[in-house]
Amino acid sequence: MEKQYARPVVLSAFRLHIFLLVIIPVLSFAHAKCVLFNFGDSNSDPGAFMAALGLYLGPPAGQQFFHKTTGRFCNGRLYIDFICQSLKIDLLSPYLESSGVDFTHGVNFAVAGASTEVYLYIPFSLSTQAGQFGHFQNRTRELRPQGKGSMISEMEFRNAVYSIDIGQNDINLALIANSSYEQVVNKLPVILERIENATKVLYKLGGRKFWIYNTGPLGCLPQTLALRKKNDSEFDELGCLALYNDAAKAFNAGFSNLCDKMRSEIKDATIVHTDMYAIKYDLFANPEKYGFEKPLMACCGTGGPPYNYVDKKTCGEPTASACPDPSQSVSWDGVHYTEAANAVIASKILSAEYSKPHIKLKTFCNHKMH
Ligand SMILES: *[C@@H]1O[C@H](CO)[C@@H](O)[C@H](O)[C@H]1NC(C)=O
Ligand SMILES: *[C@@H]1O[C@H](CO)[C@@H](O)[C@H](O)[C@H]1NC(C)=O
Ligand SMILES: *[C@@H]1O[C@H](CO)[C@@H](O)[C@H](O)[C@H]1NC(C)=O
Ligand SMILES: *[C@@H]1O[C@H](CO)[C@@H](O)[C@H](O)[C@H]1NC(C)=O
Repeated sequence: MEKQYARPVVLSAFRLHIFLLVIIPVLSFAHAKCVLFNFGDSNSDPGAFMAALGLYLGPPAGQQFFHKTTGRFCNGRLYIDFICQSLKIDLLSPYLESSGVDFTHGVNFAVAGASTEVYLYIPFSLSTQAGQFGHFQNRTRELRPQGKGSMISEMEFRNAVYSIDIGQNDINLALIANSSYEQVVNKLPVILERIENATKVLYKLGGRKFWIYNTGPLGCLPQTLALRKKNDSEFDELGCLALYNDAAKAFNAGFSNLCDKMRSEIKDATIVHTDMYAIKYDLFANPEKYGFEKPLMACCGTGGPPYNYVDKKTCGEPTASACPDPSQSVSWDGVHYTEAANAVIASKILSAEYSKPHIKLKTFCNHKMH
Protein backbone atom coordinates (compact mmCIF):
# COMPACT_ATOMS: atom_id res chain seq x y z
CA MET A 1 0.00 0.00 0.00
CA GLU A 2 2.90 2.38 0.74
CA LYS A 3 3.99 2.31 -2.89
CA GLN A 4 0.67 3.57 -4.09
CA TYR A 5 1.24 6.82 -2.19
CA ALA A 6 4.65 7.51 -3.80
CA ARG A 7 2.87 8.88 -6.86
CA PRO A 8 3.60 12.30 -8.38
CA VAL A 9 0.18 13.70 -7.56
CA VAL A 10 1.15 14.70 -4.04
CA LEU A 11 -1.88 16.79 -3.32
CA SER A 12 -4.43 14.12 -4.06
CA ALA A 13 -2.44 11.52 -2.17
CA PHE A 14 -2.33 13.93 0.74
CA ARG A 15 -6.05 14.56 0.48
CA LEU A 16 -6.76 10.86 0.34
CA HIS A 17 -4.67 10.37 3.43
CA ILE A 18 -6.55 13.07 5.30
CA PHE A 19 -9.83 11.59 4.10
CA LEU A 20 -8.89 8.17 5.37
CA LEU A 21 -7.67 9.52 8.69
CA VAL A 22 -10.81 11.50 9.26
CA ILE A 23 -13.48 9.25 7.84
CA ILE A 24 -12.29 5.75 8.54
CA PRO A 25 -10.06 5.91 11.59
CA VAL A 26 -10.67 2.31 12.53
CA LEU A 27 -9.28 0.79 9.36
CA SER A 28 -5.66 0.05 8.64
CA PHE A 29 -4.15 -1.08 5.37
CA ALA A 30 -3.31 -4.68 5.98
CA HIS A 31 -5.34 -7.10 3.88
CA ALA A 32 -7.83 -9.43 5.48
CA LYS A 33 -9.98 -12.16 4.00
CA CYS A 34 -13.29 -10.68 2.89
CA VAL A 35 -16.13 -12.11 4.99
CA LEU A 36 -19.71 -10.87 4.64
CA PHE A 37 -22.70 -11.39 6.92
CA ASN A 38 -25.97 -10.20 5.45
CA PHE A 39 -29.29 -9.50 7.18
CA GLY A 40 -32.56 -8.54 5.53
CA ASP A 41 -35.65 -9.46 3.55
CA SER A 42 -36.44 -10.84 0.08
CA ASN A 43 -34.34 -8.14 -1.58
CA SER A 44 -31.31 -10.15 -0.45
CA ASP A 45 -32.74 -13.62 0.39
CA PRO A 46 -30.99 -16.33 -1.67
CA GLY A 47 -33.49 -19.06 -0.71
CA ALA A 48 -33.94 -19.03 3.08
CA PHE A 49 -37.70 -18.50 3.04
CA MET A 50 -38.31 -21.58 0.88
CA ALA A 51 -35.84 -23.68 2.89
CA ALA A 52 -37.23 -22.57 6.27
CA LEU A 53 -40.90 -23.06 5.45
CA GLY A 54 -40.43 -26.10 3.23
CA LEU A 55 -42.01 -24.35 0.28
CA TYR A 56 -41.19 -24.37 -3.39
CA LEU A 57 -40.98 -21.34 -5.61
CA GLY A 58 -41.79 -22.67 -9.05
CA PRO A 59 -40.42 -21.57 -12.40
CA PRO A 60 -39.78 -19.27 -14.18
CA ALA A 61 -37.78 -17.98 -11.16
CA GLY A 62 -34.08 -18.59 -11.72
CA GLN A 63 -34.45 -19.23 -15.44
CA GLN A 64 -31.91 -16.69 -16.69
CA PHE A 65 -28.91 -17.55 -14.55
CA PHE A 66 -29.27 -20.61 -12.35
CA HIS A 67 -31.48 -22.44 -14.90
CA LYS A 68 -33.43 -23.82 -11.95
CA THR A 69 -35.38 -22.39 -9.08
CA THR A 70 -33.23 -21.46 -6.07
CA GLY A 71 -35.75 -19.72 -3.84
CA ARG A 72 -34.64 -16.30 -5.04
CA PHE A 73 -37.56 -14.11 -6.05
CA CYS A 74 -35.87 -13.26 -9.31
CA ASN A 75 -35.13 -14.62 -12.77
CA GLY A 76 -31.45 -14.82 -11.80
CA ARG A 77 -29.03 -13.16 -9.39
CA LEU A 78 -29.93 -10.72 -6.62
CA TYR A 79 -27.82 -7.62 -6.04
CA ILE A 80 -26.12 -9.42 -3.13
CA ASP A 81 -25.03 -12.18 -5.54
CA PHE A 82 -23.43 -9.62 -7.88
CA ILE A 83 -21.71 -8.09 -4.86
CA CYS A 84 -20.26 -11.48 -3.85
CA GLN A 85 -19.01 -12.04 -7.39
CA SER A 86 -17.38 -8.63 -7.39
CA LEU A 87 -15.77 -9.32 -3.98
CA LYS A 88 -14.55 -12.61 -5.47
CA ILE A 89 -16.24 -14.71 -2.83
CA ASP A 90 -18.72 -17.56 -3.35
CA LEU A 91 -22.40 -16.56 -3.38
CA LEU A 92 -23.45 -16.49 0.27
CA SER A 93 -25.54 -19.49 1.33
CA PRO A 94 -28.77 -18.97 3.25
CA TYR A 95 -28.33 -19.61 6.98
CA LEU A 96 -31.52 -21.69 7.00
CA GLU A 97 -30.50 -24.00 4.15
CA SER A 98 -29.56 -27.45 5.45
CA SER A 99 -27.68 -28.94 2.52
CA GLY A 100 -24.75 -28.02 0.36
CA VAL A 101 -23.96 -24.82 2.20
CA ASP A 102 -20.60 -23.06 2.27
CA PHE A 103 -20.14 -20.52 5.06
CA THR A 104 -16.40 -19.93 4.69
CA HIS A 105 -16.89 -16.38 3.34
CA GLY A 106 -19.89 -15.52 5.43
CA VAL A 107 -23.57 -16.21 5.86
CA ASN A 108 -26.74 -14.73 4.49
CA PHE A 109 -29.37 -14.46 7.24
CA ALA A 110 -31.93 -12.59 5.11
CA VAL A 111 -35.41 -14.11 4.83
CA ALA A 112 -38.19 -13.04 2.47
CA GLY A 113 -40.99 -11.28 4.29
CA ALA A 114 -38.78 -10.30 7.20
CA SER A 115 -39.33 -6.99 8.90
CA THR A 116 -37.95 -5.58 12.13
CA GLU A 117 -40.80 -7.26 14.00
CA VAL A 118 -41.73 -10.90 14.55
CA TYR A 119 -45.14 -11.49 13.03
CA LEU A 120 -47.36 -14.36 12.01
CA TYR A 121 -45.68 -16.71 9.50
CA ILE A 122 -42.40 -14.79 9.50
CA PRO A 123 -40.59 -15.22 12.79
CA PHE A 124 -37.30 -14.22 11.14
CA SER A 125 -37.24 -10.57 12.13
CA LEU A 126 -34.02 -8.58 12.06
CA SER A 127 -33.47 -9.23 15.77
CA THR A 128 -34.03 -12.97 15.21
CA GLN A 129 -31.44 -12.83 12.44
CA ALA A 130 -28.99 -11.08 14.78
CA GLY A 131 -29.65 -13.85 17.33
CA GLN A 132 -29.01 -16.46 14.65
CA PHE A 133 -25.69 -14.78 13.96
CA GLY A 134 -24.86 -15.18 17.68
CA HIS A 135 -25.74 -18.86 17.45
CA PHE A 136 -23.63 -19.26 14.32
CA GLN A 137 -20.67 -17.56 15.97
CA ASN A 138 -20.93 -19.82 19.02
CA ARG A 139 -21.15 -22.95 16.87
CA THR A 140 -18.16 -21.80 14.84
CA ARG A 141 -16.14 -21.30 18.04
CA GLU A 142 -17.06 -24.79 19.21
CA LEU A 143 -16.33 -26.52 15.91
CA ARG A 144 -13.25 -24.66 14.73
CA PRO A 145 -10.81 -26.42 17.09
CA GLN A 146 -12.02 -29.69 15.57
CA GLY A 147 -11.38 -28.39 12.06
CA LYS A 148 -15.11 -28.32 11.31
CA GLY A 149 -17.76 -25.76 10.45
CA SER A 150 -17.18 -22.48 8.66
CA MET A 151 -13.66 -22.14 10.18
CA ILE A 152 -14.21 -18.36 10.43
CA SER A 153 -11.69 -17.08 12.98
CA GLU A 154 -12.13 -14.45 15.70
CA MET A 155 -10.15 -11.96 13.57
CA GLU A 156 -12.37 -12.71 10.59
CA PHE A 157 -15.53 -12.14 12.62
CA ARG A 158 -14.06 -8.80 13.64
CA ASN A 159 -12.99 -7.84 10.13
CA ALA A 160 -16.20 -8.98 8.48
CA VAL A 161 -18.70 -6.62 6.89
CA TYR A 162 -22.18 -6.75 8.43
CA SER A 163 -24.71 -5.63 5.81
CA ILE A 164 -28.33 -4.85 6.62
CA ASP A 165 -31.17 -4.23 4.16
CA ILE A 166 -34.47 -4.09 6.02
CA GLY A 167 -37.49 -1.81 6.40
CA GLN A 168 -39.48 -2.28 3.20
CA ASN A 169 -41.85 -4.81 4.78
CA ASP A 170 -42.29 -2.70 7.91
CA ILE A 171 -43.48 0.25 5.87
CA ASN A 172 -45.57 -1.88 3.55
CA LEU A 173 -47.28 -3.66 6.46
CA ALA A 174 -48.02 -0.36 8.16
CA LEU A 175 -49.57 1.03 4.98
CA ILE A 176 -51.50 -2.15 4.14
CA ALA A 177 -53.13 -1.95 7.57
CA ASN A 178 -54.86 1.17 6.17
CA SER A 179 -53.04 3.43 8.59
CA SER A 180 -52.97 7.08 7.70
CA TYR A 181 -49.68 8.64 6.68
CA GLU A 182 -49.41 10.17 10.16
CA GLN A 183 -49.99 6.80 11.80
CA VAL A 184 -47.27 5.25 9.63
CA VAL A 185 -44.87 8.08 10.45
CA ASN A 186 -45.62 7.58 14.14
CA LYS A 187 -44.52 3.94 13.85
CA LEU A 188 -41.15 4.85 12.35
CA PRO A 189 -39.28 5.58 15.61
CA VAL A 190 -40.00 2.07 16.92
CA ILE A 191 -38.99 0.46 13.61
CA LEU A 192 -35.75 2.47 13.64
CA GLU A 193 -35.10 1.61 17.27
CA ARG A 194 -35.37 -2.09 16.43
CA ILE A 195 -32.77 -1.60 13.68
CA GLU A 196 -30.57 0.25 16.15
CA ASN A 197 -30.95 -2.53 18.72
CA ALA A 198 -30.10 -5.27 16.22
CA THR A 199 -27.06 -3.34 14.99
CA LYS A 200 -25.88 -2.92 18.57
CA VAL A 201 -26.36 -6.64 19.21
CA LEU A 202 -24.04 -7.32 16.27
CA TYR A 203 -21.63 -4.73 17.63
CA LYS A 204 -21.63 -6.41 21.06
CA LEU A 205 -20.86 -9.69 19.31
CA GLY A 206 -17.78 -8.06 17.80
CA GLY A 207 -19.01 -6.53 14.51
CA ARG A 208 -17.17 -3.31 13.66
CA LYS A 209 -17.87 -2.73 9.99
CA PHE A 210 -21.50 -2.02 9.13
CA TRP A 211 -22.82 -1.52 5.61
CA ILE A 212 -26.45 -0.50 5.82
CA TYR A 213 -29.03 0.35 3.20
CA ASN A 214 -32.06 2.56 3.42
CA THR A 215 -35.21 1.41 1.66
CA GLY A 216 -36.32 1.71 -1.95
CA PRO A 217 -39.28 3.42 -3.60
CA LEU A 218 -42.11 1.15 -2.48
CA GLY A 219 -44.62 3.28 -4.39
CA CYS A 220 -43.06 2.38 -7.76
CA LEU A 221 -43.52 -1.39 -7.39
CA PRO A 222 -46.15 -2.84 -9.76
CA GLN A 223 -47.74 -4.73 -6.83
CA THR A 224 -48.22 -1.55 -4.83
CA LEU A 225 -49.64 0.22 -7.87
CA ALA A 226 -51.98 -2.60 -8.84
CA LEU A 227 -53.33 -3.34 -5.37
CA ARG A 228 -53.15 -0.05 -3.53
CA LYS A 229 -54.00 2.67 -6.02
CA LYS A 230 -57.41 4.12 -5.36
CA ASN A 231 -57.27 7.42 -7.15
CA ASP A 232 -55.12 8.73 -10.03
CA SER A 233 -54.40 11.91 -8.09
CA GLU A 234 -52.20 9.77 -5.82
CA PHE A 235 -49.44 9.53 -8.46
CA ASP A 236 -46.11 11.27 -8.33
CA GLU A 237 -44.43 12.54 -11.52
CA LEU A 238 -43.30 9.02 -12.50
CA GLY A 239 -46.70 7.41 -11.98
CA CYS A 240 -45.63 5.89 -8.66
CA LEU A 241 -47.84 6.07 -5.56
CA ALA A 242 -46.73 9.21 -3.76
CA LEU A 243 -47.97 8.08 -0.32
CA TYR A 244 -45.86 4.93 -0.41
CA ASN A 245 -42.77 6.76 -1.62
CA ASP A 246 -43.30 9.50 0.95
CA ALA A 247 -43.46 6.87 3.71
CA ALA A 248 -40.23 5.32 2.40
CA LYS A 249 -38.61 8.77 2.32
CA ALA A 250 -39.74 9.53 5.87
CA PHE A 251 -38.25 6.22 6.99
CA ASN A 252 -35.03 7.03 5.13
CA ALA A 253 -34.73 10.46 6.74
CA GLY A 254 -35.01 8.84 10.18
CA PHE A 255 -32.61 6.13 9.07
CA SER A 256 -29.98 8.65 8.05
CA ASN A 257 -30.29 10.33 11.47
CA LEU A 258 -30.02 6.93 13.13
CA CYS A 259 -26.74 6.25 11.27
CA ASP A 260 -25.34 9.58 12.49
CA LYS A 261 -26.46 8.81 16.03
CA MET A 262 -24.86 5.36 15.98
CA ARG A 263 -21.65 6.82 14.52
CA SER A 264 -21.41 9.15 17.49
CA GLU A 265 -22.23 6.42 20.00
CA ILE A 266 -20.09 3.56 18.75
CA LYS A 267 -16.92 5.34 17.74
CA ASP A 268 -14.79 2.28 17.16
CA ALA A 269 -17.18 1.01 14.50
CA THR A 270 -17.56 2.27 10.93
CA ILE A 271 -21.08 2.68 9.64
CA VAL A 272 -21.46 3.10 5.90
CA HIS A 273 -24.93 4.11 4.81
CA THR A 274 -25.92 3.45 1.19
CA ASP A 275 -28.82 5.25 -0.44
CA MET A 276 -30.82 2.39 -1.95
CA TYR A 277 -33.74 4.74 -2.58
CA ALA A 278 -31.71 6.93 -4.95
CA ILE A 279 -30.20 3.88 -6.65
CA LYS A 280 -33.56 2.22 -7.29
CA TYR A 281 -35.53 5.39 -8.02
CA ASP A 282 -33.18 6.15 -10.91
CA LEU A 283 -34.25 2.88 -12.57
CA PHE A 284 -37.83 4.18 -12.67
CA ALA A 285 -36.89 7.76 -13.52
CA ASN A 286 -34.39 6.98 -16.29
CA PRO A 287 -35.15 3.46 -17.49
CA GLU A 288 -33.84 4.07 -21.03
CA LYS A 289 -30.39 4.87 -19.58
CA TYR A 290 -30.11 1.18 -18.65
CA GLY A 291 -32.02 -0.34 -21.56
CA PHE A 292 -35.25 -0.80 -19.61
CA GLU A 293 -38.80 -0.22 -20.85
CA LYS A 294 -42.09 0.22 -18.97
CA PRO A 295 -40.48 0.15 -15.50
CA LEU A 296 -43.85 0.04 -13.72
CA MET A 297 -44.85 -3.22 -15.39
CA ALA A 298 -43.85 -6.61 -13.96
CA CYS A 299 -42.10 -8.95 -16.39
CA CYS A 300 -43.60 -12.07 -14.84
CA GLY A 301 -47.28 -11.90 -13.97
CA THR A 302 -50.79 -11.72 -15.35
CA GLY A 303 -53.09 -9.07 -16.74
CA GLY A 304 -50.89 -7.09 -19.12
CA PRO A 305 -50.37 -3.32 -19.02
CA PRO A 306 -50.07 -1.13 -17.14
CA TYR A 307 -48.70 -3.27 -14.27
CA ASN A 308 -49.11 -6.92 -15.32
CA TYR A 309 -49.98 -7.76 -11.74
CA VAL A 310 -53.08 -9.56 -10.48
CA ASP A 311 -53.40 -10.79 -6.91
CA LYS A 312 -53.17 -14.61 -6.58
CA LYS A 313 -52.11 -14.86 -10.23
CA THR A 314 -48.59 -13.73 -9.53
CA CYS A 315 -45.28 -15.03 -10.87
CA GLY A 316 -44.82 -18.72 -9.99
CA GLU A 317 -48.54 -19.47 -10.32
CA PRO A 318 -49.43 -21.55 -13.38
CA THR A 319 -51.57 -18.70 -14.70
CA ALA A 320 -48.61 -16.30 -14.81
CA SER A 321 -45.92 -16.11 -17.46
CA ALA A 322 -42.71 -14.21 -17.98
CA CYS A 323 -42.07 -11.57 -20.63
CA PRO A 324 -39.89 -12.64 -23.58
CA ASP A 325 -36.89 -10.49 -22.57
CA PRO A 326 -36.57 -9.87 -18.82
CA SER A 327 -33.38 -7.88 -19.40
CA GLN A 328 -35.65 -5.02 -20.54
CA SER A 329 -37.69 -5.04 -17.32
CA VAL A 330 -36.96 -3.43 -13.97
CA SER A 331 -39.49 -5.48 -12.04
CA TRP A 332 -39.44 -9.25 -12.19
CA ASP A 333 -42.62 -10.25 -10.35
CA GLY A 334 -44.15 -6.96 -9.31
CA VAL A 335 -42.28 -6.80 -5.99
CA HIS A 336 -38.74 -7.89 -6.76
CA TYR A 337 -36.24 -6.63 -9.30
CA THR A 338 -35.00 -8.52 -12.36
CA GLU A 339 -31.47 -9.81 -12.59
CA ALA A 340 -30.72 -7.02 -15.08
CA ALA A 341 -31.95 -4.40 -12.61
CA ASN A 342 -30.04 -6.10 -9.77
CA ALA A 343 -26.84 -5.88 -11.84
CA VAL A 344 -27.31 -2.11 -12.15
CA ILE A 345 -28.18 -1.82 -8.44
CA ALA A 346 -25.05 -3.78 -7.45
CA SER A 347 -22.75 -1.73 -9.68
CA LYS A 348 -24.08 1.48 -8.13
CA ILE A 349 -23.64 0.07 -4.61
CA LEU A 350 -20.09 -0.92 -5.50
CA SER A 351 -19.32 2.51 -6.98
CA ALA A 352 -19.42 4.11 -3.48
CA GLU A 353 -21.10 7.11 -5.09
CA TYR A 354 -24.29 6.53 -3.09
CA SER A 355 -22.53 5.77 0.18
CA LYS A 356 -21.76 7.91 3.18
CA PRO A 357 -18.82 7.97 3.71
CA HIS A 358 -17.74 7.31 0.12
CA ILE A 359 -15.87 4.12 0.72
CA LYS A 360 -15.86 1.17 -1.64
CA LEU A 361 -17.32 -2.06 -0.32
CA LYS A 362 -14.36 -3.99 -1.69
CA THR A 363 -11.90 -1.77 0.18
CA PHE A 364 -14.06 -1.89 3.28
CA CYS A 365 -14.26 -5.67 3.25
CA ASN A 366 -10.57 -6.34 2.62
CA HIS A 367 -9.11 -3.90 5.10
CA LYS A 368 -8.07 -5.14 8.46
CA MET A 369 -9.20 -3.51 11.70
CA HIS A 370 -6.67 -2.15 14.17
C1 LIG B 1 -23.28 -17.79 22.88
O1 LIG B 1 -22.50 -18.26 23.96
C2 LIG B 1 -22.48 -17.42 25.08
C3 LIG B 1 -21.60 -18.04 26.14
O2 LIG B 1 -20.38 -18.37 25.62
C4 LIG B 1 -23.89 -17.24 25.63
O3 LIG B 1 -23.86 -16.31 26.71
C5 LIG B 1 -24.79 -16.73 24.53
O4 LIG B 1 -26.11 -16.66 25.01
C6 LIG B 1 -24.71 -17.64 23.34
N1 LIG B 1 -25.54 -17.07 22.27
C7 LIG B 1 -26.36 -17.82 21.53
C8 LIG B 1 -27.24 -17.09 20.58
O5 LIG B 1 -26.39 -19.02 21.58
C1 LIG C 1 -58.06 -1.56 3.81
O1 LIG C 1 -59.12 -0.90 3.10
C2 LIG C 1 -59.61 -1.61 1.97
C3 LIG C 1 -60.69 -0.77 1.32
O2 LIG C 1 -60.26 0.54 1.14
C4 LIG C 1 -60.14 -2.96 2.39
O3 LIG C 1 -60.54 -3.69 1.25
C5 LIG C 1 -59.07 -3.74 3.13
O4 LIG C 1 -59.59 -4.94 3.63
C6 LIG C 1 -58.51 -2.93 4.29
N1 LIG C 1 -57.40 -3.63 4.87
C7 LIG C 1 -57.27 -3.82 6.19
C8 LIG C 1 -56.07 -4.59 6.63
O5 LIG C 1 -58.03 -3.38 7.00
C1 LIG D 1 -34.19 -1.63 22.30
O1 LIG D 1 -33.35 -2.08 23.33
C2 LIG D 1 -33.61 -1.45 24.58
C3 LIG D 1 -32.51 -1.89 25.54
O2 LIG D 1 -32.40 -3.28 25.57
C4 LIG D 1 -34.99 -1.81 25.06
O3 LIG D 1 -35.28 -1.20 26.28
C5 LIG D 1 -36.00 -1.35 24.01
O4 LIG D 1 -37.31 -1.79 24.36
C6 LIG D 1 -35.65 -1.92 22.64
N1 LIG D 1 -36.51 -1.29 21.65
C7 LIG D 1 -37.35 -1.95 20.86
C8 LIG D 1 -38.19 -1.12 19.95
O5 LIG D 1 -37.44 -3.17 20.83
C1 LIG E 1 -59.17 11.74 -5.77
O1 LIG E 1 -58.43 12.54 -4.85
C2 LIG E 1 -58.67 13.94 -4.97
C3 LIG E 1 -57.71 14.70 -4.07
O2 LIG E 1 -57.51 14.04 -2.85
C4 LIG E 1 -60.16 14.19 -4.62
O3 LIG E 1 -60.44 15.58 -4.75
C5 LIG E 1 -61.04 13.38 -5.54
O4 LIG E 1 -62.39 13.51 -5.16
C6 LIG E 1 -60.66 11.89 -5.50
N1 LIG E 1 -61.40 11.16 -6.51
C7 LIG E 1 -62.02 10.02 -6.26
C8 LIG E 1 -62.70 9.36 -7.41
O5 LIG E 1 -62.04 9.51 -5.13
